[in-house]
Amino acid sequence: MPHSVNPALQPNTLKIAILGAAGGIGQSLSLLLKTQLHFPLKTNSTQRDKNHIHLALFDVNEDAINGVVADLSHIDTPVSISNHSPKTGIEDCLKNCSLVVIPAGMPRKPGMTREDLFTINAKIMSSLTDSIAQNCDLSKVFVLIISNPVNSLVPVMVNRLWSKYPQLSKGTNIEKRIMGVTKLDIVRASTFLHEVNIDADITPRTNDMPDVPVIGGHSGETIMPLFSQSRSYKSLDRDQINYLVHRVQYGGDEVVKAKNGLGSATLSMAHAAFKVVNKFVSLLLGNVDQIHGICYVSLKDADGSPIAPGAEQLLKSIDDCSFFSIPMSISKKGVTAIDFDIIDRMDNYERNEMLPLCLPKLKNSIATGSKFGSQD
Ligand code: NAD
Ligand code: LMR
Repeated sequence: MPHSVNPALQPNTLKIAILGAAGGIGQSLSLLLKTQLHFPLKTNSTQRDKNHIHLALFDVNEDAINGVVADLSHIDTPVSISNHSPKTGIEDCLKNCSLVVIPAGMPRKPGMTREDLFTINAKIMSSLTDSIAQNCDLSKVFVLIISNPVNSLVPVMVNRLWSKYPQLSKGTNIEKRIMGVTKLDIVRASTFLHEVNIDADITPRTNDMPDVPVIGGHSGETIMPLFSQSRSYKSLDRDQINYLVHRVQYGGDEVVKAKNGLGSATLSMAHAAFKVVNKFVSLLLGNVDQIHGICYVSLKDADGSPIAPGAEQLLKSIDDCSFFSIPMSISKKGVTAIDFDIIDRMDNYERNEMLPLCLPKLKNSIATGSKFGSQD
């Protein structure tokens, strides 16, 4: 069974681990990565750092992951694949990984908030953090956290690495490479804006609608879609903006309700995560030196200093809220610059109505996650 073998990876292989790969998001994302990631390999560059991609798929549900990997392994693309479960060990999955994507954890059911998932998912995140600390190179690896509540689980991982693994994490700047994935909010903002038919010059032939930046966190009022930054802003009236903001903030609930107990967004999330992973693949293959995007990150390092240029200014504008989703530049070393200017470009409504609602809630979730992550 070739798919069950973890091949001896060549140094030129970019290895990506997906933890929770047998779940709704994990399966769809794995399919997209297996089928769509081959294109960078076709371009012709001998100078590229890496020229092969390997997907290492892990899930605690052994039967499910075995089946998913057997199935995916028949797809005729040059992306190689291996399956991992507690029986074979997570160690092999994580060893030599450059990128770890985490959709492991419980999804919501109707009537639940994302925060209701904290108790169970924070334990999962802690155990995965331990595995990452013990098996990955903390001075190089990137981690993308999809599991909810993102607002608290990113602080869980960052604080656990700082407090439980000071020797392993010290000097690695690992916090510059641990990112919460909030891209689905951006995807929704662009989609819903397009639906109200404002962006008249977008034709059906256009694959991608222009992004509307969404900053803050990933839950209710912590989600701050900045329609003032969209090119359609001038043609939107107050009622339309209120409708759009609310729809983006509670878009997740729409899907949870429609699935009626069968989970939350998986397909749109896999699409959003694929867009993010694709950029990181470009960076890690060596196709580009820098990427730009919006992720949810720690703005401070373990000593409390700002992680990158722009972080200090941002912290001043957001009442020292220590984790935030914000446009940034990222190199192979992690976050290199924070685009704090976007705060100055917000309109009065965003600055005076939305931000004051976002910050206390977000800070509360960060405190919960940081406290949990700092415990033994
Ligand atoms: P799912 O239940 O379909 O899949 C979760 C998978 O995680 C399962 O296969 C399960 O076996 C696995 N798992 C559980 N514990 C694990 C562990 N310790 N190690 C490895 N795997 C483990 O759920 P889903 O719909 O794929 O959602 C996953 C998470 O993503 C949820 O927490 C959900 O709220 C979140 N989510 C986030 C966003 C976002 O925008 N960031 C969007 C949608 C969903
Ligand atoms: C979403 O925004 O769809 C996800 O965070 C899942 C959820 O629970 O809403």
